[in-house]
Amino acid sequence: MAVYESVTDAIGQTPLFRLTRLGEGIAAPVYAKAEFLNIGGSVKDRAARSMILAAERDGHLRPGGTIIEATSGNTGIGLTIVGRQRGYRVIACVSDRSAPEKSDILRAYGAEVVLAPTTLPAEHPDHLFNVVRRLTEEIPGAWLANQYDNPANPEAHVHTTGPEIWEQTGGRITHFVAGVGTGGTISGTGGYLKKVSGSAVTVVGADPEASTYGGGDGSPWFVESIGHFVHPETVEDLWPESYHRDVVDAFERIPDRESLLTARRLAREEGLLAGPSSGTAVAAALRVARRLGPDDLVVVLLPDSGRSYLSKLFNDDWMRAWGFLEEPRTPQDDEPTVRTVLRTHQLVTVPSDASLADALAVLRTAPGGVAPVVVARPARPYGVVAGEIVGSLSAAAVESAIAAGRARPGDPVTGELAAPLPTVGVGQPLSSAHGALGTEHDAALVLLDGRAVSLVHRAELDPAAAGGGR
Ligand SMILES: Cc1ncc(COP(=O)(O)O)c(C=O)c1O
Repeated sequence: MAVYESVTDAIGQTPLFRLTRLGEGIAAPVYAKAEFLNIGGSVKDRAARSMILAAERDGHLRPGGTIIEATSGNTGIGLTIVGRQRGYRVIACVSDRSAPEKSDILRAYGAEVVLAPTTLPAEHPDHLFNVVRRLTEEIPGAWLANQYDNPANPEAHVHTTGPEIWEQTGGRITHFVAGVGTGGTISGTGGYLKKVSGSAVTVVGADPEASTYGGGDGSPWFVESIGHFVHPETVEDLWPESYHRDVVDAFERIPDRESLLTARRLAREEGLLAGPSSGTAVAAALRVARRLGPDDLVVVLLPDSGRSYLSKLFNDDWMRAWGFLEEPRTPQDDEPTVRTVLRTHQLVTVPSDASLADALAVLRTAPGGVAPVVVARPARPYGVVAGEIVGSLSAAAVESAIAAGRARPGDPVTGELAAPLPTVGVGQPLSSAHGALGTEHDAALVLLDGRAVSLVHRAELDPAAAGGGR
């Protein structure tokens, strides 16, 4: 058993676990590298230690200095643990879309947390990345870790993760599967494994379906910390320098539902409580392994623990409300769900740059004369992302505003917006969906896999009026 003089020495040396249940019936063995067993709970401890040591070596970080980073949480945790041990102040700037538990953990380790949006165009002054740049300029002795472009990030995996996996598998690994956030993990680990094996190891990126790394449209998705999102107003889209695209041989593009359900299976069937990006990675690894034989060996990396996501993917109500879970709550449960009243027509939407006259033409075709208003952007092949809905508009309200002279047909819709309609998940029981309407709404948007696909009206959701079971 190991004895350490400092927690920073305990980073790495994580075990591999064979996925016996999820891999049942698959000839190629699949082993999961349990990075959530790192001291700070994630793979990013490795990058954090590597970046701080390199910054000290290069003179960017000096005694009394401040470490600043834009982080979804895990890199911040690693930087805070290592940084505080070495006497630095740490400021973690976190996306406001990140799980709140991650910020609580950062504060517990002694970081100062700054929340900022990432859903704005990259050029916007309030965008997380620009907030970070500003703080770094203003605070004397501040050093921006910048995991996205810092070579010490992938380098950490060249020196630790890659050699560990090679040694743990006795050089038998044939396929390495990991998600791509900054790209540090896959580039460093994959690059090492390719080099040491004479390019015999195939490296597969596990990517959210909508992410641009694997060829998606860059619209938002639900698995945190991996993939590449593009705001449609972003002028110049750059991929991180920590991502070495020549290392990745292929991508498996995984829909959110498959990622989330796989992470849940990982906990229940394998006893490995890991986060959503681990679900993406394992779903991809299983797809890869199904095409392989008994002489192959797949290693998949599980970046972090499921404990940070108990209120999300491990919460059945959350899963149902976002349209990711449809199975009955109990085997005896036969209450009808929103699915039973789902209409098949396409959702009618009004783009946020429309005029009131254009909007009226659209609203007259919408059931009940009401429709959500969505951020104007090129068509999304996967449907309307819930987070991109900015409000709602009804034909009656627009007509009366024009008739009363409060608005003109050429005016933008943004002046007449009402609050967004409430949302209900496709697997939500009718009684709970009806409750979501409250007293002020007559319709709700139906979410399927986190995307608005239809509209339901109060009468359809009334449990008393609904007949039949699921
Ligand atoms: C939970 C989780 N999964 C995956 C990743 C992606 O790792 P990388 O940035 O090395 O590509 C991160 C990175 O922050 C993470 O926090």
